Amino acid sequence: MAITLRPTRAEIRLSAVRSNLQKLKETAAPARLLFVVKANAYGHGAPELARLAEREKLAWGFGVSSVEEGLALRAAGIISPVLVLGSLYPFESFVEAISADLLVTIASLDAARQVIDAARKLGKKAVCHIKLETGMGRIGARKPSALKIYDELSASGAVSVGGMYTHLASADTDPRYTAEQLGFFGETAEELAARGARGLLLHAANSCAAVNLPESRRDMVRCGIAAYGLAAGFEPALSLKTSIVFIKTVREGAYISYDKSFRADRPMKIATLPAGYGDGYLRRFSNRADVLIGGLRCRVLGNVTMDMIMADVTAVRDAAVGSEAVLLGRQGSEEITAAELAGIAGTITYEIVTLISARVPRVYVE
Ligand SMILES: Cc1ncc(COP(=O)(O)O)c(C=O)c1O
Repeated sequence: MAITLRPTRAEIRLSAVRSNLQKLKETAAPARLLFVVKANAYGHGAPELARLAEREKLAWGFGVSSVEEGLALRAAGIISPVLVLGSLYPFESFVEAISADLLVTIASLDAARQVIDAARKLGKKAVCHIKLETGMGRIGARKPSALKIYDELSASGAVSVGGMYTHLASADTDPRYTAEQLGFFGETAEELAARGARGLLLHAANSCAAVNLPESRRDMVRCGIAAYGLAAGFEPALSLKTSIVFIKTVREGAYISYDKSFRADRPMKIATLPAGYGDGYLRRFSNRADVLIGGLRCRVLGNVTMDMIMADVTAVRDAAVGSEAVLLGRQGSEEITAAELAGIAGTITYEIVTLISARVPRVYVE
């Protein structure tokens, strides 16, 4: 465990994750819940949150993006089903995946043949989910190919098809397109059933669909963002916090940060905080975002640097070295939301939390 002295940290409230998962589980039931913990649980820390969900039976299994992420969960002691949502390449990674009992996604005939080979080589049955292309345009087999993949896999005896799924491209923005995707998914599922496919787990819904579109839930929903509380009606779990490490007063006309990117138009009290773009606090926040100190909003002054930012604490009477600063989250009655930061940066909340870098320790609190 690396030694941590710097006060910058991401604080994750387990009670928020727990109640979000509970709510998703109840909403989706009788459909199962796959907790999507890829990209280190959107920056929240995959091993810890997966352990919480497994211990408290809050999810049926976990979704990850790669075999490496799946192996990390196994190394953390996770025994629940883990579905690798990405396409596997190089094909040798099927061997690693099957050995660790990871469920693999098959989106092409080539991959289907490779997973059969790998399972035969290992002498161990693999379980896969077929990924159907319905309009996301990322990975997925079109219907004729998906049917062929099903036939080859089920005839092989080496691989069992545990499910079929698709991914919705605009569940939150385009109901008609979403309905078309779901319609196409349903038709393909019926054709598979007509070929004798039984007991396949069918899944299509992400958080937004799981919450708002009951018809999308099928046998399982795959939720990430709502579990982290970054969807309407859920509790945000992550706060990014630090402390003032340096404080000064400046005269009118003083410049702050690289490129003289801020000029004081009056005497000011300015705090320096040990967080910057090296921590995932985007340079786009320069002169635009606020941080919370002493319960007040304080504007970030000048360019965000790699390791430090400066903030205007003129109005914060007792600001001092050691005072807490909240870059994302609540302090007193004020809150900086991921949506606010995403708006400033022209991005989405997913990116704001996922980009919090590895050097920021994750601290878990109840
Ligand atoms: C295949 C797949 N399923 C489910 C999800 C979860 O989506 P959300 O975080 O919107 O719930 C993702 C996330 O991008 C995904 O790629």
